[in-house]
Amino acid sequence: MIQKEKRILMHVGPVNILDRILYAGLKNNVGFTSPEFVQAFQFSLKKIRELFQVDKTYQPFIIPGGGTSAMESVTSLLKEGEKVLVVTNGVFGDRWINIFKKYPVQVNVLKAEPGYYVEPETVEKEVKREKYKLVTFTHVETSTGVRQPIRESVKAVRDYVDLVVVDGVSSVGAEEVKAKDWNVDVYLTASQKAIGVPPGMGLLVLSSNAIEKLKEEKSVAGYYLDLRNWLPVMTNMEDGKASYFSTPPVHTILMLAEALKIIIDEEGLDNRIKRHEKIAGAIRAGVEGMGLDIVARKPEAYSNTVTGVLVKKVNAGNVLSEVISEGIELAPGVHPALQGKYFRIGHMGWVTENDAISTIASIERALKRLGEDIKLGEGVKATQLYLAK
Ligand SMILES: Cc1ncc(COP(=O)(O)O)c(C=O)c1O
Repeated sequence: MIQKEKRILMHVGPVNILDRILYAGLKNNVGFTSPEFVQAFQFSLKKIRELFQVDKTYQPFIIPGGGTSAMESVTSLLKEGEKVLVVTNGVFGDRWINIFKKYPVQVNVLKAEPGYYVEPETVEKEVKREKYKLVTFTHVETSTGVRQPIRESVKAVRDYVDLVVVDGVSSVGAEEVKAKDWNVDVYLTASQKAIGVPPGMGLLVLSSNAIEKLKEEKSVAGYYLDLRNWLPVMTNMEDGKASYFSTPPVHTILMLAEALKIIIDEEGLDNRIKRHEKIAGAIRAGVEGMGLDIVARKPEAYSNTVTGVLVKKVNAGNVLSEVISEGIELAPGVHPALQGKYFRIGHMGWVTENDAISTIASIERALKRLGEDIKLGEGVKATQLYLAK
């Protein structure tokens, strides 16, 4: 019972959230025109620029929903008949295909095997072969924990396509993201991931090239997710003026402002990325130390936020139920090609070194009980050694 109360969410979002952030949203008298709210919105927009490493030439957006609404809002930049290329390394890359197929645009796909990413040279070849309006990448594919080399991938396509879009849902706040330096037109994330806020919001930054598209009247977008409707809200709020298109998630935006204050002004973005990198390394050391394999096949594809763990004998689903009784909640494997063969450890947001140790220790105990062939204690030892460096 107590372990349940003290549960650690080693999940892929939502994640454990600092009390300070949750309390920031506990306000009984704040509406969308209240000065505290306008101030929190204004502050958040400014800090989102720092989070994505962009300047005033980029326009930040906070929209309701999450990663999927942010993704779907990209249809605001497309006209009927235009051609898009989806570069996908798994389930969330595939989501772009499902979204675009609902709209009158043409979709082509480059797909990686589970555990791999599509090589930048392969993408380059494709955009040279055929003219695309827009290309999408997924920075960290949450279904496998595979990280796409975004800087190199964008470089490979930049001269051949008008718009480059990156889904940074499992990367922003935990991996190096330089939207402006890398010349990305749309970089997006969701509140519940590495920035460690409750779910409910999609965050995006758009380049001036992308904003120009919003000045054209027509696009294939629907109503709610047409960024044309949200743009005046963002510019007004940044000027400190209350503005309405549709009711914003007021209390979660208060929490977002608190989280961004911690991320940018207190912890510092570089320190935060380093913390994620260290914990991810420690977790991988633990997994390999106990004798299991990681879903991402190449070290350069390892991410700071998600580790997929392959099991040999046991059913991965049983590991999750066993570990939750130990007070650790992990994420199920969702890649259809690896059904039952792996589970995921999320290590993002406010995750600590002690969380890494507890997680590896619990997984070891659970696997031993279930009959998996592991070296009990060797995982914890490897994690400790990694952290003690
Ligand atoms: C990489 C990636 N993109 C998009 C999404 C969709 O985000 P949401 O569930 O907030 O709609 C997720 C969710 O886990 C994700 O991991």
